[in-house]
Amino acid sequence: MPKPSMSSPPIFLLFFSLLTSSSSSSHADATALVSPITKDHSTRQYTLTISLKTPPQLTTLLLDLGASFSWLDCTLNYTSSSYRPIPCSTPLCTSLHSLSCSNCFHPPGPGCSNDSCSMFPENSVTHTAIAAQALQDSLSLPTATHPAQLVTLPDFVFSCSTTSLLQGLSKGVSGLAGLGRSNISLPAQLSVVLSEPYVFALCLSGSRKAAGVALFNSRGPYYFSSPEIDLAGTLIYTPLILNPIGSTIITYYLHPSDEYFIGVTSIKVNGKDVQLNKTLLSIDENGFGGTKISTVVPYTVLETSIYKAFTDAFVKESAALNLTVTTVVKPFSVCYPAGEVTSTRVGPAVPTIDLVMQSDDVFWRVFGANSMVRVTKKEADVWCLGFVDGGVNPRASIVIGGSQMEDNLLQFDVGLKRFGFSSSVLVHGTTCANFNC
Ligand SMILES: *[C@@H]1O[C@H](CO)[C@@H](O)[C@H](O)[C@H]1NC(C)=O
Ligand SMILES: *[C@@H]1O[C@H](CO)[C@@H](O)[C@H](O)[C@H]1NC(C)=O
Ligand SMILES: *[C@@H]1O[C@H](CO)[C@@H](O)[C@H](O)[C@H]1NC(C)=O
Ligand SMILES: *[C@@H]1O[C@H](CO)[C@@H](O)[C@H](O)[C@H]1NC(C)=O
Ligand SMILES: *[C@@H]1O[C@H](CO)[C@@H](O)[C@H](O)[C@H]1NC(C)=O
Repeated sequence: MPKPSMSSPPIFLLFFSLLTSSSSSSHADATALVSPITKDHSTRQYTLTISLKTPPQLTTLLLDLGASFSWLDCTLNYTSSSYRPIPCSTPLCTSLHSLSCSNCFHPPGPGCSNDSCSMFPENSVTHTAIAAQALQDSLSLPTATHPAQLVTLPDFVFSCSTTSLLQGLSKGVSGLAGLGRSNISLPAQLSVVLSEPYVFALCLSGSRKAAGVALFNSRGPYYFSSPEIDLAGTLIYTPLILNPIGSTIITYYLHPSDEYFIGVTSIKVNGKDVQLNKTLLSIDENGFGGTKISTVVPYTVLETSIYKAFTDAFVKESAALNLTVTTVVKPFSVCYPAGEVTSTRVGPAVPTIDLVMQSDDVFWRVFGANSMVRVTKKEADVWCLGFVDGGVNPRASIVIGGSQMEDNLLQFDVGLKRFGFSSSVLVHGTTCANFNC
């Protein structure tokens, strides 16, 4: 791939940003690239905003941690002077493991050329896929230290799609940003082309007013305010586990999963071990079992027997706090009257939940702010345990979902094959909306 270009902002802008850069940003990692993450509260989906095309146009994409590559609706107002199709016989097409080559009988344009390398973009919310042509175009992201300075990848590879694949996605979204552990995902291309480490961090915000942040190519520092804190220093690490069997709709022979799995070995409620069938916590030879992290499920999903044991333990421990269960609101099955639940700086005062990893002192602690969901309806005002039943024999036994990740800093380090987590940053008096740039 050709060399990336650093486009300089006009002199006065640069001068302005030098003048206004605070002491906090001047010591942040200069190589980090940033993108805001916004939550759509009606669909509970998270979106990433990046600049695509020439001239750069802000584009909002569904954030999908597990997808191998990104895709964009190329039929929707595609104006760019820099797009290029990928011919079938090229080494790039071969390296994409494209399963097909296609011609197009509409007027030529982005996503419509002859002898074009094709891909199978998937909508991970509706679980649908289509065949579409691969494309290259320019992608730009601001740097963490100088937001006015854009770093450009002239040859970003993605798949086109048609408008039909956008069904089920939030309003204003025109495609999907794939952050999976493949070598063509968004973070993979940013790291390879810029010769930076293959690592990124996510800090999702549940706030309706302020965005969270994705930080690419940097292992830190990650400065948040206020008080000013480098959250990289709060990370605890566990190995990233490879699931040898992928589960995309269109399967690529012997291709491992590009999703992120971690080794949860037990669950504790208020420090007490929940009795679980431990076999379910490891990945079997068919790719079933284990614990996956996903930004496209809103609430953590547990296999039925784990869900039952976990909710029973939670109800028992809550009773010791004088919390009495009340009428449930679907899809949840444990709710408490809002008036009975007191609040703390880490959310509602409820039993803590620990996801324990490789040893007893490595655990992701989930406080009320992440375990509970407030449901206010005409006839009910309750706090519900924000975990749902995934049925028997699901692919992953535990899928950690969006609401359990909000206001937690999560680092996906594909280069070092490890996952870093901060647990709730509310403990440190900050939130994911407080990233300092
Ligand atoms: C199409 O894109 C151009 C360039 O960004 C923009 O000016 C125009 O408003 C867009 N039109 C529609 C219908 O979105
Ligand atoms: C991606 O990895 C595959 C092996 O899994 C390799 O065959 C391919 O060449 C790589 N593609 C790129 C663009 O580096
Ligand atoms: C592809 O080739 C066919 C046959 O030569 C032609 O009719 C068609 O217009 C071409 N499509 C494009 C997008 O150039
Ligand atoms: C535990 O789960 C495994 C995998 O689903 C199953 O084969 C086994 O029978 C279960 N053991 C018990 C005691 O339920
Ligand atoms: C629960 O209620 C009982 C009886 O009212 C009281 O004695 C006890 O202190 C309460 N416990 C907590 C944890 O609030």
